[in-house]
Amino acid sequence: MPKTETYNDHVVRLFLLAAAVWGIVGMFIGVLAAAQLAWPALNFDVSWLTFSRIRANHTFGVIFAFGGSALMGTCYYVVQRTGHTRLAFGKLAMFTFWGWQLALFLAMATMPFGITQSKEYAEPEWFIDLLVAVVWVAFGTVFFATLARRRIRHIYVANWYYSAFIIAVGLLHIVNNLAVPVSLLKSYPIYSGVVDAMVQWWYGHNAVAFFLTAGFLGMMYYFVPRQAQQPLWSYRFSIVNFWALISVYMWAGSHHLLYSALPDWVQSVGMAFSLILLMPSFGSAANGLLTFNGSWHKLRTDPAVKFMVLALVFYGASTFEGSMMAIKSVNSLTHYTDWTVAHVHSGAIGWVAMITIGSLYAMAPRALGRPAMHSIGAMDLHFRLHLSGLLLYIFAMWAAGATEGLMWRATSADGSLKYSFIASLIAIKPYYIVRLLGGVLVLSGMVVMAWNLWHTAADARANLIKPIPVPIPEPEPHQVPSPLPALG
Ligand code: HEM
Ligand code: HEM
Repeated sequence: MPKTETYNDHVVRLFLLAAAVWGIVGMFIGVLAAAQLAWPALNFDVSWLTFSRIRANHTFGVIFAFGGSALMGTCYYVVQRTGHTRLAFGKLAMFTFWGWQLALFLAMATMPFGITQSKEYAEPEWFIDLLVAVVWVAFGTVFFATLARRRIRHIYVANWYYSAFIIAVGLLHIVNNLAVPVSLLKSYPIYSGVVDAMVQWWYGHNAVAFFLTAGFLGMMYYFVPRQAQQPLWSYRFSIVNFWALISVYMWAGSHHLLYSALPDWVQSVGMAFSLILLMPSFGSAANGLLTFNGSWHKLRTDPAVKFMVLALVFYGASTFEGSMMAIKSVNSLTHYTDWTVAHVHSGAIGWVAMITIGSLYAMAPRALGRPAMHSIGAMDLHFRLHLSGLLLYIFAMWAAGATEGLMWRATSADGSLKYSFIASLIAIKPYYIVRLLGGVLVLSGMVVMAWNLWHTAADARANLIKPIPVPIPEPEPHQVPSPLPALG
């Protein structure tokens, strides 16, 4: 009898585990940073514990370690299912796992000691950047080789988003990190002055676009129809949105440098493209939400669906907010204030973390060979903790941002500033404490998720010793790929 070919879910499970662990580490550091903003003495006068050092550890930990591990794991899972084929180059895929974890560990271990390029979201020094570049090329090789050996002609839309994520992030990483090393631990970028700022924010903004948006949209386009058990509301619309999103995003980065030394027309281009961006962003949010038509009752019983629906709502809300903040007159109020932090976290904890958690809950039992997660009650508890923590966080930061913006621009009759900077800090301290409480709730939810995943894996070990490998179904000729149950 010929041997049945199965999916390679081993590497998927490793990335799943890494995402859960890094999620807790990254968010714990976020909670510590939030506590330090309320009570600065919490850095205990230890240099590597100061806010300026651990802030980068938080952003790197949540974006690249938590988000990156989840993206790579789901990407390997999805490309196999939608192509009816096994992952290409199994050993190279394992190298991408260990290489990525090594790069993350090196970055997290060096940044608190001040070994950094001081570029936001691109802090690690040149030797870590080189490792990241090698791992990324290997990741792309595994993904595109698997896509090439697919047994269905059509390429499912989720893979288009994952492809854009892989190609664009590779390009951004290499261009923004071009630097001249002067020692093992120090390098200087080849750019200087305003060109350096523009390249950095072309990178920073497109890291949001292609890492925090396109990658997670890939996840959404597979797991939402899968969990709703419905075909995508409009497949054609998803492709139109894909091309619109990737062609518009690249031009919007200068909205991070409004009222700076950048030429005025470049700032206006950024603002105009940010407004246009609203259309493909709302397009994907609507397509995802409308896919639940006929399945809304699942909101009562399936916490993974709750996470996904709320993720789409926050995707729509944070992109609307972003487009408004890119209008110059609005930005003059919000820039430098905690309003930006509210926007970031409504995108990050609302959209990115929620779609990741929903997808992990959908994928974990299948990748572990179990019928369901160990505890549905714990999933529901996680949802409540996450949502209440998120709402506390963003409402507190909106209030803090509006207070700061209005206090900073208030003037007395003689034209002098009405409030000192320190007065604005004292005014927002209560909001910082509320944000901290929100962060603690979100982090507690992550611990509940880790407990649940651990027990799901333990159930799998107790019953089966090893998760059952999922056989690859024979595709129908000319089948259009879909994440519906037939694909396992
Ligand atoms: C427990 C949950 C979280 C807490 C308590 C938290 C806390 C914080 C704090 C205190 C800051 C510094 C703000 C400042 O400089 O004034 C920050 C920044 C940031 N966080 Fe979080 N965070 C959490 C979750 C996340 C997640 C899940 C992500 C991404 C997936 C994320 C992404 C970011 C980013 C990108 C920044 C930089 C924002 C900017 O430069 O404006 N955070 N976070
Ligand atoms: C249509 C989509 C979006 C637009 C037009 C947009 C626009 C903006 C604008 C205008 C700023 C403030 C820049 C400043 O004053 O410094 C900003 C900051 C930011 N946004 Fe968005 N945004 C969008 C979606 C998102 C999403 C979905 C996320 C996901 C998590 C996100 C993450 C961020 C981050 C991390 C920053 C802070 C960057 C920094 O200063 O460190 N944005 N965005």
